[in-house]
Amino acid sequence: MMSDESQQHNLPGVDEGKASDESIVKTHARIRREPSNGSPVLFFTSLALITVLVFSWFYLRRYMGEKEPQMYLHEREDIALYRDWQDRPRGPIVYDYYAIGEKLYTQMACVGCHQANGEGLAGQFPALAGAKYVTHEDPALPTKVILAGLTGPVTVKGNEFNGVMVAFGAGMTDVQVAGIVTYIRKNWGNETSEVTNDQVAAIRAEIGTRAPYTAAELKSYFE
Ligand code: HEC
Repeated sequence: MMSDESQQHNLPGVDEGKASDESIVKTHARIRREPSNGSPVLFFTSLALITVLVFSWFYLRRYMGEKEPQMYLHEREDIALYRDWQDRPRGPIVYDYYAIGEKLYTQMACVGCHQANGEGLAGQFPALAGAKYVTHEDPALPTKVILAGLTGPVTVKGNEFNGVMVAFGAGMTDVQVAGIVTYIRKNWGNETSEVTNDQVAAIRAEIGTRAPYTAAELKSYFE
């Protein structure tokens, strides 16, 4: 039962007669709970908000590139090459494959073997300048070599080689492969057609992931 002291401190609106010990304990418990009732909602709302903010930050940084409205270009190195976007006509993206390839030729270490002048190294690395695999009228040939690699005996510009080139293109995007193939096809006096990312995508889908080609497998291009 209630003590004398608690009877002297009746709360207004509480009917002494009906307020049992049990109901008072329950009421107190409810009062104690109430202030914390809103907290989980507040917590999760804040968490969601923070998550959205953090995500937006990374998303915008990734896709806004250099604060230029080229956010639909999903590759930063391509964005950097489109600083003159204001001067370009509106419409589908026109990649500057040659410029993309020029940069990759050094980045992907092609230059280390095939040399800056595209002449290769005697007895070790074949030339790209004036090479039949590069300047073939069908750009699928050099594209295949870049995507899957080349191994075994091969004759380039009358010189014989018997080395291995790994599948550099396997880890590159279609735009990058199109860039590198275009670059080697149009540099050092080579004057052949460029290859687009759509063409690369089609060739990649056709050959799948495979072992490096041999010259024998590519023989049909010269028949
Ligand atoms: C580690 C050295 C090395 C690197 C790096 C390298 N290659 Fe090669 N490449 C070779 C060798 C060796 C062959 C010949 C393979 C053979 O003997 O079957 C070759 C063959 C080729 C061929 C066909 C033959 C010719 O000369 O026309 C092309 C095209 C080619 N490489 C392009 C590239 C491109 C583009 C890159 C950069 C993405 C690259 N290579 C990176 C060593 C290399």
